[in-house]
Amino acid sequence: MHPQFLEFLCCPKTGEPLALEALEYGACEMIRTGVLRTPSGNGYPIIRGIPRFVDTERYATSFGFEWTRWPKVQFESENVGRPMAGWTTRMWERITNANEDAVRARTVVEFGCGSGRFLDVVRRKGGKAVGIDLSLAVEAARTNFAADQNVLVVQGDLLRAPFREGVFDGGYSIGVLHHTPSPEAGLLQLGRTVKPSGWVACCVYPKGSFYDYNSTARLRRVHATLQARFGYRPALAYSFFSAYALTPFFRIGKRISVLRRFLDFLEKNWLVVMYLRDARSRVLDTFDAVTPSIASTHTAEEVRNWLRLAGCTHVLPTDWGSTSVCGTRKANHLMQLT
Ligand SMILES: C[S@@+](CC[C@H](N)C(=O)[O-])C[C@H]1O[C@@H](n2cnc3c(N)ncnc32)[C@H](O)[C@@H]1O
Repeated sequence: MHPQFLEFLCCPKTGEPLALEALEYGACEMIRTGVLRTPSGNGYPIIRGIPRFVDTERYATSFGFEWTRWPKVQFESENVGRPMAGWTTRMWERITNANEDAVRARTVVEFGCGSGRFLDVVRRKGGKAVGIDLSLAVEAARTNFAADQNVLVVQGDLLRAPFREGVFDGGYSIGVLHHTPSPEAGLLQLGRTVKPSGWVACCVYPKGSFYDYNSTARLRRVHATLQARFGYRPALAYSFFSAYALTPFFRIGKRISVLRRFLDFLEKNWLVVMYLRDARSRVLDTFDAVTPSIASTHTAEEVRNWLRLAGCTHVLPTDWGSTSVCGTRKANHLMQLT
């Protein structure tokens, strides 16, 4: 953690400011070990450069596994000359609708940053990037940005975000809030941390999509049962099988009209199949679809309402999908959060 980020942080329980006690420094004035303390006596450790506001991953262990296993697969730097080149940047741009001026020399927060593919987009656009994640994905993110003073990653619960009110120029959450017990509360927290007139964007699973298929729900249940005994090995084996064997077979099979309806039936009821163009991304996304312990789906109207409740105006859908919505924080919005 670089000390420049202290002004953005607060105690997630009381909202008090934090004082920094550095115990060990790394390169470029980065604090490797230390403690963040409140005047009333709460303390949060900084371990391996990451401020820790939680001491377990709670329900998010599958993500800790996922992002430490595939820490950079979706980074642009890993996809140069490959089928998914440009995908992560385009996805971020289309979901946030944020132009270059909304990022360059600004500080932007991501709720649920995983290993940091979107923090990397912000950083490359010249912004300072702050990410929060509940899981051990933060270890992967920290490794990915170890030498970058302009990136802060914290381990914490976005439902009790350790950020002061109205401090960020913009904020977004992509593919995350549907994995929390309360997406609406998550978006309220995100809105709270963004400055008046700052931008807010959110994208969650749409109702009726692939994530509502019987097959996806069924495989999640099977993997949850197997995980207790075999860890993530069965989910990994399925993800590789699906990405390297099922996808090519389904792609070809669906061109044959007599097979198409049968394969559609299998896909909706029994087998999770991904069609991303890079097999490595298919493995990751299949694992991501079948392992989370919480995964809800939502309507466009719900997401627009969350943004309005979070004090946003100019609430608009983006062209990424019906449940990808962005807005601007009202200049004088007062929010009551419990
Ligand atoms: C599907 S991943 C998306 C990561 C990143 N946004 C991306 O698209 O690369 C969802 C992430 O949300 C995180 N997450 C889930 N619940 C959370 C919570 N309550 N607070 C912070 N992060 C949370 C998970 O640990 C996981 O890394």
